[in-house]
This record gives sequence, structure tokens and C-alpha cells, in this order.
Amino acid sequence: MGVLTIAGAKVNNLFKSFHVAGKEVAVLQNLSIEFPEQSITIILGKSGCGKTTLLRILAGFEECTSGEVITPAKEKIGMVFQEPRLMPWLTVWKNITFGVPKGRLNIADVERLIELTGLNGFESAYPSQLSGGMQQRAALARALAYDPELILMDEPFAALDHFTRESMQKELINIFLKQKKSILFVTHSVDEALLIGQKILVLNPSGVAQEFDLSQYTYPRDLLSQNSIVKKKEILEAIQTKKEQMQ
Ligand SMILES: Nc1ncnc2c1ncn2[C@@H]1O[C@H](COP(=O)(O)OP(=O)(O)O)[C@@H](O)[C@H]1O
Ligand SMILES: [Mg+2]
Repeated sequence: MGVLTIAGAKVNNLFKSFHVAGKEVAVLQNLSIEFPEQSITIILGKSGCGKTTLLRILAGFEECTSGEVITPAKEKIGMVFQEPRLMPWLTVWKNITFGVPKGRLNIADVERLIELTGLNGFESAYPSQLSGGMQQRAALARALAYDPELILMDEPFAALDHFTRESMQKELINIFLKQKKSILFVTHSVDEALLIGQKILVLNPSGVAQEFDLSQYTYPRDLLSQNSIVKKKEILEAIQTKKEQMQ
């Protein structure tokens, strides 16, 4: 696996298959994607199309079967999962700082992360004392504590209720505007993709069906604006077209 000192990421001719019950099952095939730096790239696709597998390969948790993967060094990659994955026996503060090499974070840095993720006043709370949205904020603060160049987010808001999800999306955009990290965000929600993405990649079992450039579309976005409605139609068509081709 290639490791470069870049803040974005890239995969070339990526293949990944799993052996299931003696059979080889292809999950990602001939995938070539360039994820720009300091941008929010969305990987949009229905369940089972290989989104998590792609993120796991980029994070170095999983080997690809063949192809080239170029990412920042492993310690420069942060990951946020669908469930918060906090340590229940540690406070918010300790969860954020856990495992960060000594000397990398001072008290002011942790306070800044807590401020950034809106967790002021909950530093000494335990995960079980927090709402789902707050737990996910803590997970995001934890990922940011490593000062990653690349953040991989795997449907991080999918388990939240509509209103919490909306506020988390806004929060993420604010954090992005302040910190300009490179973010790869996986979702199966077209609306979520439209609200936060600067580039949207529609992923299908046979690869990237279509790419949408939303970098000129400023925040905050309104899903009911003419622009959003037109884009949504195009994205749904991209997903639809591929489905028909597969039938
Ligand atoms: N470790 C594994 N062993 C066997 N099959 C797997 C493994 N991980 C994922 N898969 C299969 O790969 C496909 C894609 O899974 P996944 O990447 O989780 O999709 P998504 O995140 O888009 O829902 C699914 O069919 C899943 O069952
Ligand atoms: Mg998944």
C-alpha cells in the first residue's frame, strides 16, 4: 500500500473480494477515485455496495485484493463510525485524549476541541450520561484530537433522529470551515450528501456511476432551493440509470 505525505487520498484500479463459504465474492471492482484535499467528498450508495469496505481499506484496517491505495500516513487518518465507539468507563475528556501520544495535546487543545464540538460542561460526563448526538460529537472530537489530515466518516449520523442529525450536519460543516480537513463521508442519504458534500460520488457495485461537483454551492444549503432540487433529481437519476443497466 502506497503511503504519501498527502492530505487527500487516491485509489487506482482497486479490487476487493471476500471469500464467503468457499466462493470469491467481488465487492469493489476496478475502482479509481481521487479524493481532493481540504474538501468534503461524499461516497453515496445503497447498503451493501462496499462503502464501509472502501473506508476500511483507506484506513488500513483491510488489505485490498489488488490495485493501488495512496493515503496520508496511518497516524494522520481519523475515523468516525456509525456508532460512537467511546470507552464507557472513561469521561468525555479522557475519551478524547485516550491514546494520543504524550505532548501532542495540551489542556488548551482539548478545551478547544470541546468548544468546537459543543461539549462544554460535559467534560467529566460518562458516555452513558450523554445523548446519542453528544456521544457522536465526542467521537468526532476524539478523531480530531489526533490532528488527522484525513477524516473517514462512515454514516456517522445515520442512527440519530432527524433533528439531531440536522444539527450534527451543520456542526460538521462549521468544523470543516474552521479546520479545512480532508473529509470522506459515507452516506446512503441523498439529502445528507446534498447538504454537506463538495463532491459527490455515486458508488455502485460496478464502480463510480457518476461524480457531482458541488464545490461552488455555498453553505448553508437549502434542500428546497431550485439548485438542490435539480441536483437531487440528477443524483437520483444516476442511481436509477445504473439500476436499470444491471437488470
Ligand atoms: N469481512 C467480510 N467478509 C465477507 N464479506 C464481507 C466482509 N465485509 C463486507 N462483506 C460484504 O461486502 C459487501 C459490502 O459490504 P459493506 O462494505 O459493508 O457495504 P456498505 O457499507 O456499502 O453497506 C456486503 O455484501 C458484505 O456482506
Ligand atoms: Mg457500511
